[in-house]
Amino acid sequence: MGTVKASLNFNATTDAEALYKAMKGLGTDEAAILQLLVARSNVQRQQIKAAYKTLFGKDLVDDLKSELTGKFETLIVSLMTPPLAYDVALLRNAIKGAGTNEKVLVEVLASRTPQQVKDIVTAYRQEYDAVLEEDIAGDTSGHFKRLLVILLQANRQKGIQQENIEVDAQALFKAGEQKFGTDEQSFVTILGNRSAEHLRKVFDAYMKLAGFEMEESIKRETSGSLKDLLLAVVKCARSVPAYFAETVYYAMKGAGTDDDTLIRVMVSRSEVDMLDIRTEFRRMFACSMFSMIKGDTGGDYRKTLLLLCGGDDA
Ligand SMILES: *[C@@H]1O[C@H](CO)[C@@H](O)[C@H](O)[C@H]1NC(C)=O
Ligand SMILES: *[C@@H]1O[C@H](CO)[C@@H](O)[C@H](O)[C@H]1NC(C)=O
Repeated sequence: MGTVKASLNFNATTDAEALYKAMKGLGTDEAAILQLLVARSNVQRQQIKAAYKTLFGKDLVDDLKSELTGKFETLIVSLMTPPLAYDVALLRNAIKGAGTNEKVLVEVLASRTPQQVKDIVTAYRQEYDAVLEEDIAGDTSGHFKRLLVILLQANRQKGIQQENIEVDAQALFKAGEQKFGTDEQSFVTILGNRSAEHLRKVFDAYMKLAGFEMEESIKRETSGSLKDLLLAVVKCARSVPAYFAETVYYAMKGAGTDDDTLIRVMVSRSEVDMLDIRTEFRRMFACSMFSMIKGDTGGDYRKTLLLLCGGDDA
């Protein structure tokens, strides 16, 4: 369900030469670079990188960095990064240094599959000789931290526990709407430990019981980063593509564009579920994703994003 696919008549050597030519001498042929890279899968881009090294004795990504600037550079370098290394670097950058980018922690840890989270944890240890859980726990606190740590275990129960649907819905109702104050721990335990399919049943039971959608109660009963994380977990349990459609929409809505978020989603979903994201986007909002990107961005950056989007939806 991606928009970016492997090229059929692929020759890494030919591509490496084309990129070298696009960067050689004065000036850079940005159009040639973006058109070539978007028409290759990430695996093929790694083969081009290796061929480039063999042919010219230089690192392709270093050369791209020295020829390109700004958001366009960030986008192209992101496309050149293998998906797992990309996620690991996103999380590392979110916690390293002063301050924490909670938005990135929420997005990555709420949306990736259990296997992806396990791979991220392993790759993080190899790359930085550090334990991701400890690093994230050192940078966060309270129930936000507790839920992140549960998500890092990637140990959700499997399937639907029929006998627990009503029990879980009751527990959530008692912990929030029925209580003076909120028992956040119950939210964290249930939303962090149950499978997506089980949670969807719980949300239906909750709606019947409370008369509110789960999201409404979370917005009323919690706040700050915990609220954002609980909402992301609920939305991803309902539909990961719908979650990303909303993320892209709010990255562009209003004055200014959150380019970091836009780049993250467009790159990381381009070979996964971009077509589904587009469909959800069109269903939820008054315009297509394509037309919103077209109106909100510019230049080679826009051209690349539109190619990743892969088409308009009437
Ligand atoms: C790729 O193209 C080069 C010439 O640019 C050619 O020498 C080589 O045989 C090609 N490789 C494949 C696998 O077709
Ligand atoms: C679920 O989450 C809690 C933390 O809130 C944890 O203590 C518990 O062991 C987890 N597992 C299950 C199956 O509930």
